[in-house]
Amino acid sequence: MSDAYEIFSRFYDEYIFDTAPNLHMDYFNLIKLIIEKFKLDVNSILDLTCGTGTLLKLLTENGFNSVEGIDVSPEMLQKAKEKGLKVYEKNIKEFDLKRKYDLIVSFDSLGHIKDEKDLSKIFNNISNHLNDGGLFLCDGGTREKAKRMIGQKYTYE
Ligand SMILES: C[S@@+](CC[C@H](N)C(=O)[O-])C[C@H]1O[C@@H](n2cnc3c(N)ncnc32)[C@H](O)[C@@H]1O
Repeated sequence: MSDAYEIFSRFYDEYIFDTAPNLHMDYFNLIKLIIEKFKLDVNSILDLTCGTGTLLKLLTENGFNSVEGIDVSPEMLQKAKEKGLKVYEKNIKEFDLKRKYDLIVSFDSLGHIKDEKDLSKIFNNISNHLNDGGLFLCDGGTREKAKRMIGQKYTYE
């Protein structure tokens, strides 16, 4: 793993608060909307690439009890642990948590993966961790976002 998040983790939450203060609330509202619209019975949630755990924290504060996260960066995870969250240091390409979830989410992450083989591994892992009738929800990049970000440095492993 590149050490980009080792440094970014130190100010990641402040950066998001300054640049996109509603980001995680928007993710949370989307999750809630989909659960309600499709009348899903969601008792357990896994956040892949959970980072500093902001979304997990919102989920726990809003009544979801069984929520966990994985991320490959120990520094990002440390911030999540300081929020009292249950998180594991795992690479999404090869994780096996030996349990299943009703809902798996991943935001602001998978859109950076270019290699189809990697995506295939990740989707396989996701599928292996979903209960019957479970749902996977993620976002992808948009052309507009890519244009805005040209010139900025991104690392993803
Ligand atoms: C832009 S951050 C988004 C974090 C979080 N999803 C959020 O919305 O705040 C991307 C995250 O993906 C994690 N990540 C990158 N590659 C990964 C991999 N192969 N396995 C697990 N996590 C990874 C990084 O450590 C980082 O925390």
